[in-house]
Formats: sequence, structure tokens, C-alpha cells
Amino acid sequence: MSLYSHVTIQGAAYPLYGLGTTVFWNGCPEAEDAYVSVIADGLVSMIDCAEMYGNGRCEEAAGRILRRTGRDRVYLVDKILPDNAVPGLFRKSLTESLRRTGTDHFDLYLLHWREKADLPFVIESMEQAVREGLILRWGVSNFDVKDMEDLFACEGGNRCAADQIMYNLGTRGIEYDLLPWLKAKGVLPMSYSTLGSSQLDTRQVVAGTPLVRRLCKELSVSPSALMLAFALRNRDICALFASRQERHIRDNLAEAERIPASVLAELDAAFPAPEGRTPLAKL
Ligand SMILES: NC(=O)c1ccc[n+]([C@@H]2O[C@H](COP(=O)([O-])OP(=O)(O)OC[C@H]3O[C@@H](n4cnc5c(N)ncnc54)[C@H](OP(=O)(O)O)[C@@H]3O)[C@@H](O)[C@H]2O)c1
Repeated sequence: MSLYSHVTIQGAAYPLYGLGTTVFWNGCPEAEDAYVSVIADGLVSMIDCAEMYGNGRCEEAAGRILRRTGRDRVYLVDKILPDNAVPGLFRKSLTESLRRTGTDHFDLYLLHWREKADLPFVIESMEQAVREGLILRWGVSNFDVKDMEDLFACEGGNRCAADQIMYNLGTRGIEYDLLPWLKAKGVLPMSYSTLGSSQLDTRQVVAGTPLVRRLCKELSVSPSALMLAFALRNRDICALFASRQERHIRDNLAEAERIPASVLAELDAAFPAPEGRTPLAKL
């Protein structure tokens, strides 16, 4: 399968995958070099960031990367904390995030999670930022079906462009209800922990199964590449992953590209999607 394509939702084209920035949480200059290199080569065109990551340090790292690659090479995603998505702080947070990333706009700006967010206020603030050109689109993160229904019940809520959520081969709960809901409403699903979550142990569990071990050996690919290819198999979500190592980024993409559909079908059968409702997994 070719990874050099886009996800198109309601006429808007989004990169099929992107790199996360949590790897810069405690500083990692070699990872900055790696990101610059893969962006310069045209392998990657999306970076996902958040004001929360390293208290702004990851946004600063993203800013240094963008200065080296050129802002126009990157689709830039950022997120606001629910605590800051309140009157008096929303605009300040957005402005600070733009300053730290050294850019005049975000391509996509997300509410990081719901918590006690005042949804009508968030929608109006996001829409105002769109009108001013500070963000091109807005969305949410870690919203389950009920959260999305609440959002869409608010005026303007249906202009939400994306929901960034945990999804991987070992965590397929969204396939039962959230994914069909997002598709029906034209909202882009963006996956995080695409290569499995080390915190929730999915990475080790999936990689340790006899099937995955065998497939990796036969195809000379890593479990990460298998999981990336699986997430992208229908080209209907945008998948995020992160790595400090340029070799891993390049190998994940190259190996995912050559995994045949028959292998993805084997994985689908071995790690089936749940047949009932499963609450959204979150970090
Ligand atoms: N919205 C949210 O609430 C939320 C939550 C979590 C994450 N995110 C976003 O999603 C991004 C990705 O997060 P994540 O949870 O998917 O990733 P992650 O767990 O932060 O990191 C991915 C891990 O996979 C490893 N890896 C990658 N390729 C590998 C390979 N070929 N072989 C062995 N190990 C490999 C990396 O190690 P190496 O560095 O050694 O390659 C890294 O430790 C974040 O940076 C953030 O932007 C959003």
C-alpha cells in the first residue's frame, strides 16, 4: 500500500500520518535532527503538539524544527488544555502556543480532553480563532461517542473537524461505535498510541504474540511497522506515532508500505475488534 496519500474528509485533505512531539518532553536534539531530516525528504508532513507537553518545551522544539524545514512543509496540530479553554485564558493560551512554535497559525487546534469544558464557549472561541486566521480548523481529543453527541448538540459543534483518540491493533474499541459515528459526521479520526501504548502494555502484548513474532521474522519488519500498517489499512484515519530515532521513523514507514493486505487480514482476525461497546481508552 502506498503511504503517500491523504485522508480526505468532506473535501478537506489531511496527511495520512504524522509525528508526535512528546519525545521532546525532556529535550532531545537528535530527535529534532531526525524530524527535520524526514520532513526535508518529504516523508513526513504533519507534526502533532500540545501546550501540555513538557510545559511548552515540545512546542518550542516544534518551533525549532519548523524554522529549519520551513513552516509551509508542515501541517501543524496543537492542543489546548481544558483548564485554559476558559474565558480570559483561551486566547492567551493560543497566542502563547503560536509564539512558542514561531508560527502565525495552526492548521488544526484541538481541545486536549473534555473534563469540565464549557462546550459552547470552546466552540465560539475556536470559531473566533478561525475567523481571525489563527487556526484553520478546530477539533477535540479523547472524546467518546457521548462527548461527541454533546458537542454536536451545541450550535456550531458540527464544525468540529477531528477527534484525536487512542487506537491500535490491541485497542480497537472505537471500531464498534465511535469510528462509525465520526465517519458518518465527517469528523477526522486521528490515532495516538498507534504503535501500541507502553503505558497500557498493548505494545508488549501485541509484539509478544507468536503470530506477530512469526510475521515480523518472515517479512523482516518490526511490530511497530505492522501496527502502523494496520492502523492505516483503510486510509480512513490519520495515524500519529513518535520516535527519537530517525532509523525507526524511516523503517516504520518503509516497512509498513510493503506489508501485504493478506497479513493485515491475519492480524484483523487474531486481534478482533470488540463486538460490543467499549469505553474509549485514554492515557
Ligand atoms: N491526544 C492525546 O491525549 C495524546 C496522547 C498521547 C499521545 N499523543 C500524541 O501522539 C504522539 C505519539 O504518541 P504515542 O503514544 O503513539 O507514542 P509514544 O508511546 O510516545 O512513543 C512511541 C514509542 O514507540 C517507539 N518506537 C517507534 N518506532 C519503533 C520501532 N521501529 N522499533 C521500536 N520502537 C519504536 C519509540 O521509541 P524510539 O524513540 O526508540 O523509536 C517510542 O518509545 C505523541 O507524541 C503526541 O503527539 C496524543
